[in-house]
Amino acid sequence: MTSAPTDRSDLRYLMCAPDFYDVDYVINPWMEGNVHRSSKERAHLQWQGLYQILKEMAIVNLVPPQQGWPDMVFTANAGLVVERKVVLSRFLHPERQGEEPFFKDWFLSQGFEVFELPPELPFEGAGDALLDREGQWLWAGYGFRSELDAHPLLAKWLGVEVLSLRLIDSRFYHLDTCFCPLSRGYLLYYPPAFDSYSNQLITMRVPPEKRIAIAEADAINFACNAVNVGDTIVLNRISADLHRQLEAAGFQVVQTPLTEFLKAGGAAKCLTLRVTEPLSPTHGDGVTIESRVIQMAGHLLDSGLINRALDVVVDAGGSFQVLEFRLGTQRQSTSQARIRVSAPSAVVMGTIMSQLIEIGAYLPEVQDAQLEEVTLDGVAPDDFYVTNIYPTEVRVQGRWIRCDRQRMDGAIVVQDRGGQVTATCSLLRDLQVGDRVVVGIEGIRTAHRPEQREKKEEFSFMGAGVSSERRVELIVEQIAWELRQVRDRGGRTVVTAGPVVVHTGGAPHLAYLIREGYVQALLGGNAIAVHDLEQAMMGTSLGVDMQRGTSVPGGHRHHLKVINTVRRHGSIAQTVAAGLVTSGIMYECVRGEVPFVLAGSIRDDGPLPDTVMDLIAAQQQYAELIRAADVILMLSSMLHSIGVGNMTPAGVKMVCVDINPAVVTKLADRGSIESVGVVTDVGLFLSLLVQQLQRLDSPLLTS
Ligand SMILES: NC(=O)c1ccc[n+]([C@@H]2O[C@H](COP(=O)([O-])OP(=O)(O)OC[C@H]3O[C@@H](n4cnc5c(N)ncnc54)[C@H](O)[C@@H]3O)[C@@H](O)[C@H]2O)c1
Repeated sequence: MTSAPTDRSDLRYLMCAPDFYDVDYVINPWMEGNVHRSSKERAHLQWQGLYQILKEMAIVNLVPPQQGWPDMVFTANAGLVVERKVVLSRFLHPERQGEEPFFKDWFLSQGFEVFELPPELPFEGAGDALLDREGQWLWAGYGFRSELDAHPLLAKWLGVEVLSLRLIDSRFYHLDTCFCPLSRGYLLYYPPAFDSYSNQLITMRVPPEKRIAIAEADAINFACNAVNVGDTIVLNRISADLHRQLEAAGFQVVQTPLTEFLKAGGAAKCLTLRVTEPLSPTHGDGVTIESRVIQMAGHLLDSGLINRALDVVVDAGGSFQVLEFRLGTQRQSTSQARIRVSAPSAVVMGTIMSQLIEIGAYLPEVQDAQLEEVTLDGVAPDDFYVTNIYPTEVRVQGRWIRCDRQRMDGAIVVQDRGGQVTATCSLLRDLQVGDRVVVGIEGIRTAHRPEQREKKEEFSFMGAGVSSERRVELIVEQIAWELRQVRDRGGRTVVTAGPVVVHTGGAPHLAYLIREGYVQALLGGNAIAVHDLEQAMMGTSLGVDMQRGTSVPGGHRHHLKVINTVRRHGSIAQTVAAGLVTSGIMYECVRGEVPFVLAGSIRDDGPLPDTVMDLIAAQQQYAELIRAADVILMLSSMLHSIGVGNMTPAGVKMVCVDINPAVVTKLADRGSIESVGVVTDVGLFLSLLVQQLQRLDSPLLTS
């Protein structure tokens, strides 16, 4: 039989007979398909089995069951007991809220000091809060039934350190369904039920030799939903492997069938509440949970920003409370929200805050940005703020300063030259010892451009993201209109292009755009230039005759001959000057003095003398040409288009054309409303674009 502790009166449990137990509703995945499918008789027998086992080891008190509250049988959710104090449960689901007064009465009748959480702050007792069995700290779960914001109150009221664990698998909706602290510092748990931060926390607190991680098959038999008394573990059923593992760790396992209760998502632990929970004298009352209040303003509902903000908080492992939401009443008026964000640690809070700032949230208690000096060239302080594509302001000496050279994945350097303060986005490699870099999240705000809402509507049929072939013609009309506007007002359109433009017959069309002043800079690699020059000088592209569409004998060597010729002349411009190139993309660039940068890659043949093989220099030259661009046309080059996308601030319209929807989605999905994706053949796209521009130039001919 089971080994009993020395003094039974030290150990008391609370249980509730299953007189009114049934699966009456569905509030967890286990209940699905099991409504009214449990056997009353079997439930009684199984409950009695557990009751008798426990009675051998401890005193078991009973709370009277109540009709209409079938889940009262799960007394673990009555509250959380530590010594003579109890924090009552605040059930999330109305289906269980009616149990609260009955449990409260019982605790009061037993002389417990009762603590009650504010309404609207769910916490489901010992189902979601488990003391380390040595009594040193409390593991508290959140994510499904209990709120993270309840944890600081547990720490305060019970005088115990609280470690918050986030549950992420809805089958394991309470902490005690997947986590069971055992005596002598052991822990039985199912790691996939927790997010990575929580798993990290567990590994920091529990040494590897004490962690017993179980497999899914045991987890779904509720192996962790166990009652541990001394070296005895009482549970539903486990695999032979886990049995051996537990025995090797010095535990005696008692299996008692509880299948009727599994249908409602509970087993041994859920059916019991230990009401004698001593704290070890070494306990502290710390809590690592951080809370911040953020504000948001703008078209929060129709732009979907408020949903995104709340998703950001929850996805990163935090929780929120909307303190205030003022809805704009007119179409044009804006809304305002004040939200309290909680996170289980400063690290998680930092992650959440930088994402919230990115989508336009700001901290109402405005402080100056924190600055830290760079101590090693090219290396930022650890906690540096990572920039995004949106216009960013930094608060320095009480004033908001707009960041220069906005781009993503940079650091912000603040300089003060004789009272003139500037903030600049800088790449890590450009940081120098002594530079003062923004760290943390104080004093930073970004504009998520809600004012662009009207523009989005105008472009909504493109802005919907990636378009299908069917809609290409419509989209081309819009892009042609935009390109013409930009050209006519003296704006800047930058093109990035890959060699597919030439292979698909698009070179003459791109050449037309350059010749007619629609392109202010060209960015690409070695290949676009090589293949364009091959076509201009030899009439082939990769050895294929572009007129006839057939391979030319020995044509595969053409591009090398072209490279050789250009190398002999020293540059593309000098080859054009020598009269060897009289048409094509590169010819039009040289003739029209349209600047181009060819960035080198490991695939390059030659390379051409113009190809910049120093990648840092190439990135810098790209960045120079992108500056002040209004539109960037990205034509079938994943490598160069993604490179350009990373350097480009929000507000620049990016049009990405590629045959592969995945590439288009990646580029168009920057969270920027200005991005447009077109999934089509680039040769076809360019041909349609030129036709449309010519139509716009001669309206009378087409009317
Ligand atoms: N001979 C050479 O020197 C040589 C040859 C090839 C590439 N390169 C270099 O390698 C690097 C990568 O080359 P890249 O940019 O061509 O390759 P990439 O793979 O980065 O991009 C090519 C893109 O074109 C898309 N594409 C293919 N067919 C298409 C079509 N018909 N219409 C629209 N899109 C289409 C693909 O989906 C892909 O996204 C560049 O720097 C390039 O200069 C050099």
